[in-house]
Amino acid sequence: MPLPYVLLSAAVSLDGYLDDTGPDRLLLSSPADFDRVDEVRASVDAILVGAGTLRADNPRLLVNSPKRRAARVAAGQPEYPLKVTVSASGELAPDARFWHTGGEKIVFTTDKGAQRLREAGIAAHADIVPLGDELDWRLLLEHLHDVRGVRRLMVEGGGTVHTQLLQRQLADEVQLVLAPLFVGDPRAPRLFGPGAYQGGRLRLVETRAIGDVVLMRYEPTAPGTGPEAAPADRHWLRIACELAAQCPPSRTAFSVGAVVVAADGTELARGHSREGGDPVVHAEEAALAKIDPADPRLPAATVYSSLEPCARRASRPRPCARLILDAGVRRVVTAWREPDTFVEAANGAAVLLDAGADVVVLPEFEGPAQEPNRHLGGEALARAEERR
Ligand SMILES: NC(=O)c1ccc[n+]([C@@H]2O[C@H](COP(=O)([O-])OP(=O)(O)OC[C@H]3O[C@@H](n4cnc5c(N)ncnc54)[C@H](OP(=O)(O)O)[C@@H]3O)[C@@H](O)[C@H]2O)c1
Repeated sequence: MPLPYVLLSAAVSLDGYLDDTGPDRLLLSSPADFDRVDEVRASVDAILVGAGTLRADNPRLLVNSPKRRAARVAAGQPEYPLKVTVSASGELAPDARFWHTGGEKIVFTTDKGAQRLREAGIAAHADIVPLGDELDWRLLLEHLHDVRGVRRLMVEGGGTVHTQLLQRQLADEVQLVLAPLFVGDPRAPRLFGPGAYQGGRLRLVETRAIGDVVLMRYEPTAPGTGPEAAPADRHWLRIACELAAQCPPSRTAFSVGAVVVAADGTELARGHSREGGDPVVHAEEAALAKIDPADPRLPAATVYSSLEPCARRASRPRPCARLILDAGVRRVVTAWREPDTFVEAANGAAVLLDAGADVVVLPEFEGPAQEPNRHLGGEALARAEERR
């Protein structure tokens, strides 16, 4: 199921706190950075904060710049992004500024919480969406995507919400601002709590000094697990598609790229069709050949291939689906099911699934995966469309 792009945004002190324990909100960002936050708000469809932040800070969560609001309206968007909050308890003050400023609002809650919110009169200001006994973040994001049309979601805290979204591999990006001050109070809230995060390192995609604070943007790198796609899966599949574009073109074989990535987000190897002057080598074969078969990371690794791994081939004894299984890998992410162009009813996904592997197809990458194969003619690609 498609989900919105989820951007976590927060500012922290040099000792890693989100706030102090005083009654007023601690201002961590610089004025120029508050303006950047306003710009990001103007660029999204919805802004989410947890109930803890509503109770502690009583924020409005508006786009403050009239120019940016006018640009949204001119682009056919609502003047203000949808405001979203989550609360299991439903204990939210009806006079909070969140309800009485900006545009539409929605609160995701439990069945019990919904009752409390209705009794408090919140239904007059916001849609109340109960999600059962407890809140499931994936369901919440699917609702925002499918029912409310949210494609980009900015999450502005607090720490409890940020921690859950990152640990559940639902965050596409972290925008972290480091402010040059200390809090020094262990009772103050931290950005990320304890728990199971991805192993390995996140990818730093930008650093920017803004006044006296520094913005750092990170992306998670760890593949998803099982049949569910994680944000990092899209990054690695994009690289596989870029590798496909490096293949020497052939009239008798597809141009394909592949990357093998360990569970902690470490790239183990990459390859592409006809790499290194070998006229028949396949992308997955080229990548796997670069990894020690005894590498203990292989069983938990993911193979990204721009085209479904082959099930049969004339040029070598073992097809790529078999090579992947023999390497011990049990998860494959691909963009494009193999058309019948060179092999009738090729179905590498079935070979993998029958052996208990997970196969994730991300159809939004079909175009980039097909692009380096355009020279094979429309018919070759059209047959793939017929099969769907
Ligand atoms: N520096 C920054 O950038 C920044 C940004 C935002 C916030 N903050 C600070 O962060 C602090 C608040 O953080 P916080 O961690 O206490 O609160 P929070 O993350 O804003 O909200 C936590 C609350 O959200 C609800 N919630 C979260 N996950 C849920 C789930 N899975 N199911 C149902 N409800 C869920 C619960 O509400 P109920 O308790 O109602 O059930 C929970 O108590 C404040 O001090 C604020 O100033 C700082």
